[in-house]
Amino acid sequence: MDLLDKLRAIDKRFAKLTQGSVIPGVTVIEQVLGPCEVVVQGRRTLMFGSNNYLGLTMHPDVVDAARSAVGEFGTGTTGSRTANGTLALHEALEREFADWFGKRHAIIFSTGYQANLSVISGLCGPGDVILIDAESHASIYDATRQTASQVIGFRHNSAKSLRRKLERLPRGECNRLVVVEGLYSIRGDVAPLRDIVDVCRAHNAYLVVDEAHSLGTYGANGLGCAEEQGVLDQVDFVVGTFSKSLAGIGGVCVSDHPELRALHFLARAYVFTASSSPSNIAGVHAAVRVVREHPELRDRLWANVRRLRQGLRGIGYKIGEAESPIIPILTGDEDRTIGLWQHLLMAGVYVNLIVPPGCRKDDCVLRASCSAAHTPEHLSRALEIFAYAGTESGVAGVALA
Ligand SMILES: Cc1ncc(COP(=O)(O)O)c(C=O)c1O
Repeated sequence: MDLLDKLRAIDKRFAKLTQGSVIPGVTVIEQVLGPCEVVVQGRRTLMFGSNNYLGLTMHPDVVDAARSAVGEFGTGTTGSRTANGTLALHEALEREFADWFGKRHAIIFSTGYQANLSVISGLCGPGDVILIDAESHASIYDATRQTASQVIGFRHNSAKSLRRKLERLPRGECNRLVVVEGLYSIRGDVAPLRDIVDVCRAHNAYLVVDEAHSLGTYGANGLGCAEEQGVLDQVDFVVGTFSKSLAGIGGVCVSDHPELRALHFLARAYVFTASSSPSNIAGVHAAVRVVREHPELRDRLWANVRRLRQGLRGIGYKIGEAESPIIPILTGDEDRTIGLWQHLLMAGVYVNLIVPPGCRKDDCVLRASCSAAHTPEHLSRALEIFAYAGTESGVAGVALA
């Protein structure tokens, strides 16, 4: 087999996907008209495929903070946090996160991906055991590959399966780290964190919860699913990303363990990469303040979630059971899924397409996500388009109630 054969196979698969008027995987957003409206192929398109859950990418406080940071600190840091890349802005954001979470320590990273690489590979080494949910994000899987630890998967969202795997480990002979997500990014289901915390405590395991999609969207203070389920104080390390509700780029880990600080010297994905740019950090800091001061944004988001779910069901779409800002439309067959995705986009709604290798061949999904910034008019128009595209592609089509 030639070195390039695997790339040729991908090219071949891509050619299959491109038999249509719009091409999945290479959608170009030509203009951004607002947090939920963009232009694609010259068409005004409603965005239902982003993680802009609170709609803060164009919030005036966030935009102003980013703008003034460029004037004050320049466009880039030109170095890593451990070299010349720690600005007062980075430290101020770390203090804000620690205060928001009521945790003693916080450390920020250039991306959420790097937060997981840094935390997991920083904590674990030879002789340690990492237990991860089978449906973990790629950043969690990739992090485990950077360690010499034993890695064990357990059944998705099953505290029982986790307990069984822990019970099989030799008692007291190895350190254990359990890694789960708060809200899972494709199917929108939430981890049973109370049960998972109980199992971790009973088996002497440390727990990391990645709240990438739940930060800002769950919990009385927007701290995520651990807060919502009343177990935040029992989670050892909470990871978050800035690339969703916080409208920027970056990642964070908060913890009461002072050892977290050692990642500053230890984590390769932190030490050997440039720190985040001043405008981004200032924008994210402003976004955190907005989230803290405006809990009504979450109310708006959840009202939109209920309306979209109800509307999609009314049209005849099969959607996931869990009520969350991520709504999986269960389409099954790959060709039908791509067809529906194309009809939706041509008619002016953008959603995410999940086909193999992102899922099994007969288990394809369109992932729609809600934002607090979707207006009633956005939702009505989107539902009209969903009804039309569902009929055209044969996926759904009962008339709107
Ligand atoms: C669960 C989870 N963790 C981490 C990440 C990575 O975040 P980032 O985009 O900030 O690198 C994502 C991104 O989608 C995610 O869904």
